[in-house]
Amino acid sequence: MVDSDDVGIGDRMSSAYTEVLGKIGDFLRTGNEPTELYQDVCDVLQSSLDHYTWVGIYAIEGDDLVLQAYKGPKATEHTRIPIGKGVCGLAARTAETVVVPDVSQDARYLECFPSTKAEIVVPIKYIDDVFGEIDVDSDRLDPFTEEDSKFLRMVADQLAAVVKKLRA
Ligand code: SME
Repeated sequence: MVDSDDVGIGDRMSSAYTEVLGKIGDFLRTGNEPTELYQDVCDVLQSSLDHYTWVGIYAIEGDDLVLQAYKGPKATEHTRIPIGKGVCGLAARTAETVVVPDVSQDARYLECFPSTKAEIVVPIKYIDDVFGEIDVDSDRLDPFTEEDSKFLRMVADQLAAVVKKLRA
């Protein structure tokens, strides 16, 4: 079980983020299947944070990332992305968070929605074993701060611990 008291919530994190972490901790304690948890996480992230226009969770299947759940105004045609392609593929390959403040300036970016201006992708990993990622598109230019990176890392780490345990 993951307890939200154990995730190291920093005292500089603003209340909107800590509130969402609390809700995610509650979902994760339900013991529901990963696909259900992924949908709950996408729903709460997208509906709680104004600059998170579209939120998706991809899982690694073989050499591809496959979309498991999303919340946003539209479906994406990129439901399967080869590892190494796009910003999503880069994050999966390097196991590092990728922040793109202005997608029009980044040749690695694969367009999903014409309205997207920025993107952040955070790998879901357990130690060095990457098994998915959280992808957030924003209709705002350069909206993602260090706080978003830190916050989404915590969300991804909580998900990773629970999914790893359910799969064991
Ligand atoms: N923009 C991503 C593709 C996924 S969509 O944003 C949903 C990329 O560059 O990999």
